[in-house]
Amino acid sequence: MKIQIYLLLCAVAIGCNSNSSSTSTTNETKQMSKEYFGKIGNDSVYKFTLKNAKGMEVKIMNYGATITNLIVPDKNGTAGDVVLGFDSLEGYLQKGNPYFGCIVGRYANRIANGKFTLDGKTYTLAQNNDGNSLHGGLKGFDKVIWDVKESDSNHIVFHYLSKDMEEGYPGNLDVTVTYSLSADNELKIDYSATTDKATPLNLTNHAYFNLSAGKDSTILDHELQIDANKFSEVNASLIPTGKLPDVKNTPMDFTSSKKVGQDISKVEGGFDHNWVLNKKGNAGFDKVATLYHAASGRLMDVYTTQPGIQFYSGNFLDGTLSGKNGQKYVKHAALCLETQHFPDSPNQPFFPNTILKPGETYHHVTSYKFSTK
Ligand code: GLA
Repeated sequence: MKIQIYLLLCAVAIGCNSNSSSTSTTNETKQMSKEYFGKIGNDSVYKFTLKNAKGMEVKIMNYGATITNLIVPDKNGTAGDVVLGFDSLEGYLQKGNPYFGCIVGRYANRIANGKFTLDGKTYTLAQNNDGNSLHGGLKGFDKVIWDVKESDSNHIVFHYLSKDMEEGYPGNLDVTVTYSLSADNELKIDYSATTDKATPLNLTNHAYFNLSAGKDSTILDHELQIDANKFSEVNASLIPTGKLPDVKNTPMDFTSSKKVGQDISKVEGGFDHNWVLNKKGNAGFDKVATLYHAASGRLMDVYTTQPGIQFYSGNFLDGTLSGKNGQKYVKHAALCLETQHFPDSPNQPFFPNTILKPGETYHHVTSYKFSTK
């Protein structure tokens, strides 16, 4: 009898908790914290926290499945937030938000003239960037509310159904993005999707990293290595020409670690290109880049199954955005390492395929692994 009453009380306790600000699971150590962040129409936006015993903490909201905070210890064990973002939801909703921390889709980066032809039919997308389509159009995956399918303190599963012809893309696309945080400071992002009509698909995360955690106003002193012998050459509006030149003897050479600031002035506008990852010719999950900030000792290794990475050095930040703690986000305040397929692939016959067909499953994994040195 005593046992039955005890079980009943436990069940009531769990039931009562499910609508409160923190969601309980059977294992107390896995409790997921969930904070209210604001409202968009009738939808509530929450920040969910992943945590581990090593002091790493990641906050992700259901608007855009966006990483809002990424707390990582430095070499002395002092925690700091290594991504740009805002303290309030309004910050993220403002027009000038340059995709801080969000999931980008249906097609990350640019599609030339906002047009592509698939199975003989030409599709027209929003031309939201210099006559081209950027990051999925006017209301891409960064600007929608994602469902939370399951969560605990180690992982969270987001789901979004992108309807047929949403933003001009064909097919009902069912997308799942899972973020997980390991005991050894690896933040993994697992993307999967299926469709009922052939569609271009290119998903990425658009976190802006500054490993100094607010101490350095720019990332020009960060050291970067990218395992890529080639990059995608682009025209003046950042559309690939189709050529994949060698990085050797050019400012684009990051095969050995060098400071981001070393050659940036030799590249018009700064770095904003796709690097063609060496990947030993496979589609495996490989280490492809390392970012290091000597003063804090923070180091971030990037692993991915993707064939490319867009290294963007925050060139369009211009000090007008006021971010967390009132920080002014100046030019090069942070950098992005967007693992992806190559920009404009639907119009580039010699780039790796980005068309997902019915019956196939899209699956990619990227991880950002933190340590100190
Ligand atoms: C990507 C693009 C950049 C810029 C940013 C968002 O990284 O390559 O040109 O549009 O997104 O501001």
